[in-house]
Amino acid sequence: MHEFRDSMKFFYRYLKQYKLSFLVALVMTVIAVYLQVQAPVFIGDALNKLVSYAGIKMTHAPGADHAWDLFIGVIWSLLLYYVFNALANFIQSIVLSISIAKSTNEMRTGLFSKLQKLTVAFFDRKSDGDILSRFTSDLDNIYNAMNQVLSQLMTGIALLIGLLIMMFDKNAQLAWVTIASVPVSIILAAFIIVKARKYVDIQQDEVGKLNGYINERITGQKIIITNSLQEETVEGFKVHNEQVRKATLKGQIYSGMIFPVMQGMSLVNTAIVIFFGSYLAVHGDIDKTVALGLVVTFVQYSQQFYNQIAQLASSYSMIQLAITGARRVDEMLDETEEVNPPNGIQIDGVEKDIKLENVDFQYLPDKPILKDVNIQVDKGQMIALVGPTGSGKTTVMNLMNRFYDVNKGSVKFDDVDIRDLDLGSLRSHVGIVLQESVLFSGTIRENIAFGKPDATDEEVIAAAKQAHIHSFVETLEKGYDTKVSEENNIFSTGQKQLISIARTILTDPSLLILDEATSNVDTVTEARIQKAMNNVIKGRTSFVIAHRLKTILNADRIIVLKYGEIIEEGNHEELMKENGFYAELYNNQFVFE
Ligand SMILES: Nc1ncnc2c1ncn2[C@@H]1O[C@H](COP(=O)(O)OP(=O)(O)OP(=O)(O)O)[C@@H](O)[C@H]1O
Ligand SMILES: [Mg+2]
Repeated sequence: MHEFRDSMKFFYRYLKQYKLSFLVALVMTVIAVYLQVQAPVFIGDALNKLVSYAGIKMTHAPGADHAWDLFIGVIWSLLLYYVFNALANFIQSIVLSISIAKSTNEMRTGLFSKLQKLTVAFFDRKSDGDILSRFTSDLDNIYNAMNQVLSQLMTGIALLIGLLIMMFDKNAQLAWVTIASVPVSIILAAFIIVKARKYVDIQQDEVGKLNGYINERITGQKIIITNSLQEETVEGFKVHNEQVRKATLKGQIYSGMIFPVMQGMSLVNTAIVIFFGSYLAVHGDIDKTVALGLVVTFVQYSQQFYNQIAQLASSYSMIQLAITGARRVDEMLDETEEVNPPNGIQIDGVEKDIKLENVDFQYLPDKPILKDVNIQVDKGQMIALVGPTGSGKTTVMNLMNRFYDVNKGSVKFDDVDIRDLDLGSLRSHVGIVLQESVLFSGTIRENIAFGKPDATDEEVIAAAKQAHIHSFVETLEKGYDTKVSEENNIFSTGQKQLISIARTILTDPSLLILDEATSNVDTVTEARIQKAMNNVIKGRTSFVIAHRLKTILNADRIIVLKYGEIIEEGNHEELMKENGFYAELYNNQFVFE
């Protein structure tokens, strides 16, 4: 119920600006419904007249003409009824469709804009697949449900009300007879819905698991091939697929039951109406001349009434999916955003130094990662950070860019706490080559110029030359106009890193952070990246995280991190002399993981 109320708020938030459209739709609905409920009365009346004329016809010849005229008249009027009814329905559904398309579009844009405001912590916590599914299946479910159900719901409810009014207006006794079995139907429908909902939920879970399995196996396909596990993989797939089939079948059996059961109820009710109607027609106080028509009218009411209940009941699973979708979309909209300090200080770069002072940090409560870390980088210095895997090197980098905030202590640029800096200003002065490089779909030129879209060709080429990727790009048929993307990948891992380095060079950052920029490359490329780095680092304040100690021999200072604590600090010679952890690492260069 909680979920239902929250999702109603969600829909209201997006739909309230289309009040006028909804009013138009409502008016059209009322017109359509009015025509629809009037038609049976009209047919009933016409029938009564025809019967009375038929009676006349036996004795009176001219009556036949009358009957014929009336017959033609009835056909015409009916035609008009249905044309206007269809027209009103059409306008209603168009008006609704337009509002729905616009509002789901707004939901999608809102969700995506929200995504751009979220913290790195959010992206570390949530899987890509989960985020993506809110854009795809959840928004699709919302759109489909609104598109198909909203108009139906409006018409359905209006029609039920209209029918009730008409029935009680015509004949209260017959009206009671017609709706007497409704509670039974509702209980029956509710019972089936509860069952169906359970299996629809299971089905969704199983589909999610199946997708997860497929996703995981595609990513790991090379490992599967290497280990010849193709057949086992198919077997595993079959198990998941079978689960989906079972859940889907059960869900379908129950969901599929609603309509026929309701139609069965409709038939039973028709019989009840005919039986009691005839009884009342004969024994009750109904005018005998109109009794037959009245029963016919009520038979139609009964069918329409039940038809609506069946429609509403069977659209329930779609509504449920939309409610779930709204909850999941809303959940993401509620995530905490990154806060830019009000009146944040703008900086022009680093003049003096960058410091981490007494920094404590943890990602998760009670799991301290960095403990009392102190690091000072003077302007123009190159600091190297080494240490075993998981020791907290990337974490230090995360703090300098405010991907995360420290729990204790502070990070300072020229003695100003970075929490007082304007986020945009801070980040425009910090360039990071991440541990894993990413390509965006577009040309190589666009990829290099990603952080500075207005860069000239000369600047792009200069950056590429500094990163030692220019000569490779030149060998490509289309050069810098070659299209690349994360999927269609013409670069080796090392080349991708060089592209990332070029991208970072182009933005000319005051502080440069290279996280393991040489971990994935062969020794020749490593030497090349080394040169590229030396180019880039020259005269720039930099922070280099490296596993391969060869790449950091000429660092001004090397900081050794272990279990989140600085255990040694100094330049290469000093640390070697100390003959501690660093010396050990250096001597065991190739086995130190
Ligand atoms: N987003 C996160 N949430 C929770 N814990 C994390 C997160 N990122 C890293 N950690 C934990 O923090 C510790 C330090 O991780 P970090 O990535 O800083 O190591 P690293 O020194 O860069 O290792 P590597 O050399 O393998 O890159 C690890 O124990 C890791 O499990
Ligand atoms: Mg790391």
